[in-house]
Amino acid sequence: MKRFLKILGIIIGVVVLIFVGFALFINFKPPTQYKNEARDLTITPDSAKVAEGARIASLLCKSCHMSEDGKLGGGFMPDTKVFGKIYAPNITHSDKARIHGYTDGQLVYLFRTGIKKDGYYAPPWMPKFPLMSDHDIECIVAFLRSDHPMVQPSDLVQPAPEPSFLAKALLFGVFKPLPYPEQPIPEPDTTNKVEFGKYLATAKFDCYSCHSADFATNNEMEPSKSIGFFGGGNKLLNREGKQMLSANITMDAETGIGNWTEAQFIKCVKYGERPSGVATRYPMEPWSNLTDEEVSAIWAYLQTVPKISYKVVLPES
Ligand code: HEC
Ligand code: HEC
Repeated sequence: MKRFLKILGIIIGVVVLIFVGFALFINFKPPTQYKNEARDLTITPDSAKVAEGARIASLLCKSCHMSEDGKLGGGFMPDTKVFGKIYAPNITHSDKARIHGYTDGQLVYLFRTGIKKDGYYAPPWMPKFPLMSDHDIECIVAFLRSDHPMVQPSDLVQPAPEPSFLAKALLFGVFKPLPYPEQPIPEPDTTNKVEFGKYLATAKFDCYSCHSADFATNNEMEPSKSIGFFGGGNKLLNREGKQMLSANITMDAETGIGNWTEAQFIKCVKYGERPSGVATRYPMEPWSNLTDEEVSAIWAYLQTVPKISYKVVLPES
């Protein structure tokens, strides 16, 4: 018996050591540096591209990168407790900005794959756009290069991030760079409402990423294969760091939005007003810069998404 206990003790000791060793490894391991294979690209800006880029940025970049002066001088992200202290950097025309020195090709490479100019992977909280059309990606770059008020030089410098252990563990095992597209990605066919809505909800405006079960099980290359696709329940945080859950927006009548009308959906997405009169809360902010046609196309596409019966109890505010 004594001998057995001794052996058991040794085994437990070894397991604990391996565990502690692994934890220390993750905590102190320098992040992986990838090869930066950015293409040699020159994006020719025109006013239409800059305007569309500014609209995309107001919907997709502002929430993290905008500072109090209304420029994209950087900001602190609310997800503090879970992931540690994360800052979205300054991406204006200042030479203090982290975007300084990026070529057009390197920017496109970052947005597609998540690999930064220095070869390190931008963590999951910086979104990636692997399926966005080449034209829309070019609009974002054209806007970042323009003289738009949002990108006028700002001298703000955000502190270095302090990722939590969990954030490091996820970066070690779960989140990896995405492949750079091998073929050009054309514009969606806007005359095919369902296809256009699919493009908006899964490639351009990323509704699915919050509205599926979990960021860690989302399939970025084939969004419809994400677990709980549009069925909600993904854990998010509000500005105070309190947990929020995304809503089930499949057409299930009981647990999703199958009883809504198209007009109610448009009102909710664009102005944050649900049929019940209760406003949607951060991080579901009104997407007021979407056109009615775009939201209507998303609605048409959601009719084709398999219904999921999953009741999300949205937290009280
Ligand atoms: C959810 C928050 C969030 C959103 C939305 C977001 N970003 Fe970021 N972004 C970050 C964070 C955090 C980093 C810092 C990554 C790091 O430290 O590695 C970052 C880094 C960057 C960088 C600098 C990369 C470098 O080399 O340091 C650029 C350029 C950038 N973002 C552009 C954009 C653009 C353009 C958009 C909109 C299309 C956008 N971001 C949307 C959070 C965000
Ligand atoms: C950053 C994450 C995020 C993104 C991106 C996002 N949503 Fe949401 N959405 C949420 C959260 C969280 C809620 C629940 C808000 C609440 O509890 O007040 C929500 C609620 C909703 C609701 C209300 C559903 C209900 O039953 O009350 C609709 C409709 C909706 N989102 C549609 C969309 C569409 C369409 C898009 C893309 C254009 C989108 N969302 C993008 C996080 C997100």
